[in-house]
Formats: sequence, structure tokens, C-alpha cells
Amino acid sequence: MALDEGPRSCLLRVRHRLEQDMKPSYIMDHMITDGVLTVDEEEKIRTRATRKDQAAALLELMLRKDNRTYISFYNALIKETYDDLASLLHADLPRTSPTAYKSFPDGYTPYVRTVLSEGGVPQRPVVFVSRPELLNRVREKLYQLQKEPGWVTIFGMAGSGKSVLAAEAARYHSLIEECFPGGIHWLSIGQLDKPDLLVKIQSLCFRLEQELDPQLHHRPPNSLDEAKERMRFLMLRRYPRSLLILDDIWDTSVLKAFDIQCRILLTTRNRSLVDSVSGAKYEVEVASGLDEKKGLEILALYTNRKMHGLPEEARSIVKECKGSPLVVSLIGALLKEKPDRWHYYLRQLQQKQFKRIRKSSSYDYDALDQAMAASIEVLPEEHRELYKDFTVLEKDIKVPAKVLSILWDLPIEEVEDILEEFANKSLLFMDTNNKPYLYYLHDLQLDFLIDGC
Ligand SMILES: Nc1ncnc2c1ncn2[C@@H]1O[C@H](COP(=O)(O)OP(=O)(O)OP(=O)(O)O)[C@@H](O)[C@H]1O
Ligand SMILES: [Mg+2]
Repeated sequence: MALDEGPRSCLLRVRHRLEQDMKPSYIMDHMITDGVLTVDEEEKIRTRATRKDQAAALLELMLRKDNRTYISFYNALIKETYDDLASLLHADLPRTSPTAYKSFPDGYTPYVRTVLSEGGVPQRPVVFVSRPELLNRVREKLYQLQKEPGWVTIFGMAGSGKSVLAAEAARYHSLIEECFPGGIHWLSIGQLDKPDLLVKIQSLCFRLEQELDPQLHHRPPNSLDEAKERMRFLMLRRYPRSLLILDDIWDTSVLKAFDIQCRILLTTRNRSLVDSVSGAKYEVEVASGLDEKKGLEILALYTNRKMHGLPEEARSIVKECKGSPLVVSLIGALLKEKPDRWHYYLRQLQQKQFKRIRKSSSYDYDALDQAMAASIEVLPEEHRELYKDFTVLEKDIKVPAKVLSILWDLPIEEVEDILEEFANKSLLFMDTNNKPYLYYLHDLQLDFLIDGC
């Protein structure tokens, strides 16, 4: 397949500028990795005397290649921070045709890579396992947003893999092409106050405006109201078919700032947040942990072994981690450093020595106990104390509200409201197969509470 007419004339138009400014050796490394340039071709280009001659030869070769090469070249410019050069090519980025992306069975085409890297969507973690069933559920909901604007919420407890799942859901060619050709824009939120939120929205507006016209400099919005209006204009008029991903939302006031009739995917530990905003709403719960096979797969990938070559402790480690992707990864990362400590880490997990494990970890994520502490911190004072009472529960025991009503000495209706709040914040699980409903904690939550928060 030849290079389309648009990108071809663009290359011809801007070739002098590219020849002048870029360093082809770095660019070619990326293109080889993407499989669009062979080592022989690279060597031939390197024999040219000057950097400028090499650049000219690379461009000459690209004109004889295809759309994938153009996209890979564009990505390489971005990676090497030639943003100004990349912006010259941007308007003519080809859409890869359906036949072209058949060779990328998971839908992760160069086009997707470009769209996601422009929108600041995080890459997969170094060690990654697929969760196809959950992923399909999220994508199905995102397809619904094609018809009308609205919200898709991914909720679940700390470290259950919500953020990884949200990024993965967007990593899909036909979804972007059919529903969000205007791009995917990622915003990490977390726990922040109003001034910080304003700064986040300002930088998003800046990013979106720059993409439209790098020469124009707009004054940043200087209040949340103004920011909301600016966002509304941008999303409705300039990026009507795009998706905003808001990662890790804690507070309804954040959602209200984005209540502008656009298409949003959000991750949160708090299920009830979207009650306060308008529009179509869909949700996906990340309830169950990873199954044993996926847990083992993570350990195998970290320790560079085949699944069947894992030591006998591996199964028990996965079991002790209760399927939490965060905790399995934490242990996997430790074992990568100290491959002879399978037995030692298993013993520590069994003895609930999370704190010691965390201390010896170089893992760049706050361990589960910190993540849990943050969730409890946002409860109202009096509910925090009630939550700590769950330490009297036995592991794997589910209780009806009546038991807690006695424990807390509160009327059953009030207890039900409190339990609902805990469940909505992913601090408690509800078994609705029974009447009356039964409530229970994830083992890791119980361990954390018993450990003393
Ligand atoms: N599919 C996966 N494959 C491999 N590891 C994963 C996967 N999903 C999550 N993890 C691991 O678990 C960690 C936590 O995942 P993630 O950040 O998505 O959790 P979260 O639910 O967003 O947590 P929080 O509520 O704290 O924001 C990741 O940093 C990664 O190491
Ligand atoms: Mg997250």
C-alpha cells in the first residue's frame, strides 16, 4: 500500500524544514522498533556524509513507503521532542484503513498510539496482563456514548486496576475511529482542592488549544466558572467527538466542573459520585480480583520465568494477595530484585507484614495500606470510627445490617444508610443475592484495619 496523497504532499511541502532540523539517527531507531524501516535501509542512510544528507535520504525513502511509516515517523518526532516538526505533519496524519489494522489483533495500531500519546493517556504498566471480560464491558459502554454524551464510571477498591483498565479500554483502533476521532484526553485528578483543579483544567485547555493552532496563545481561564465555559466551547465546537478520561475522582465538585454535555470516562472508588451530574450514565464495577492464572502470569512476567517454571510458593502468594493486581505486582517487583525470596515473601504475607514489605520495596506506587488509608480519611469522623469496628468481624464472614445495628447501637435504617455509603466508596462489599443483604470486607481491607490504621 502506497503513501496517501495528503501525507505525501505534506512531506514534500515541509521536507526542507525537516532536513534542516532533525537528527535522523534517533528517529530511525524508533522506526526500526515499529517495524517500518529495516536495519539495511538504516545502514544505507547512515552512509551519507552529513546529517542533512541522511535526513534527505530518509525522507526520500519515506515517500516510497506507506501510511504506517508516516505515522511511525510522526510518533518518533514526538518522542524525540521535535514537537514543532511533528505539528507540521499532524494535519495530514493518515487514518489507517480497516485492512491495515487487521495486522494489529489487539487494535493497538500506530494511529492509536499517536492519538493516545497526544492525549496524555498513560502507557501500559511494564508488566501487564489482559482482563478481557472487564475490558469488553467498558468498551461496550463507551460505544454507547457514540449516540449521546454521557458518563461511564469505572469503580472499585484501591489498587483494583481501574486506571490501567481505563487506559486499556481506549487503546482500541475501531473505538477511536468510530466514536472518538477527535481524540482521547486524559486528566489525572486525585484528591485536589479548587485552585489545583483550576490549574489542571487550564493546562487541558492549553493542550487542546495548542493542538488546534500552536501559534495562538489564549489567556488561561482564571476562575472555575470561566474554565468550565472554555471547556464547554472546546468540547462542543472544536472536539465534539472526543473522549475525556478523568482518572481518580474523589469529589463531586470536580465532576460538576465537567458537567458540560461531553463524553467522559472516569475512575473512582466512590460509586455514587455521578448522581450529582446530568446525562446518560453507565457503570462498570471492578469487583473481583484477578483469578489465579492471571496472578501467576504477573509473577512469571516479573521474574522472567515460564508459568510452569514458577516455584511452588507462587500459588500461595497469589492466594494471599487475594487477587489484588496492586499487591501481586508489588510482590512481583520485589521478586524481580530478589529472586530467591519466594518463601520469605510468602511468610511475610501470611503474617500480614505488609508494612515491612512496603519498606523494602522500590515500587513506585504507594502500597495498599496507604491507598486504603486515603479512602478512610475522607469518611466523616464519626463514620470512620464505625468503620474501624469492622475489625471484630471474622474473615470470610458476611453479616446482615441487623448485626451491625446491635454492634453500633443504631436504628437499622441509619445503619443501612451508613453501609451504603461504605459500599459506594468501595470500602465494603454487599452481597445482594441474599435478602436481607449481607455485608463484608475484602480480606485485604480487614487485614489493614486489624493492622491498625
Ligand atoms: N491488567 C494489569 N496487569 C498487570 N498489572 C496490573 C494490571 N492492572 C493493575 N495492575 C497493577 O496494579 C497497580 C494498580 O492499578 P491501578 O493504578 O489501575 O489501580 P486503581 O484501581 O486505579 O487504584 P487507585 O484506586 O489507587 O487509583 C498498577 O500500578 C499495576 O502495577
Ligand atoms: Mg487509579
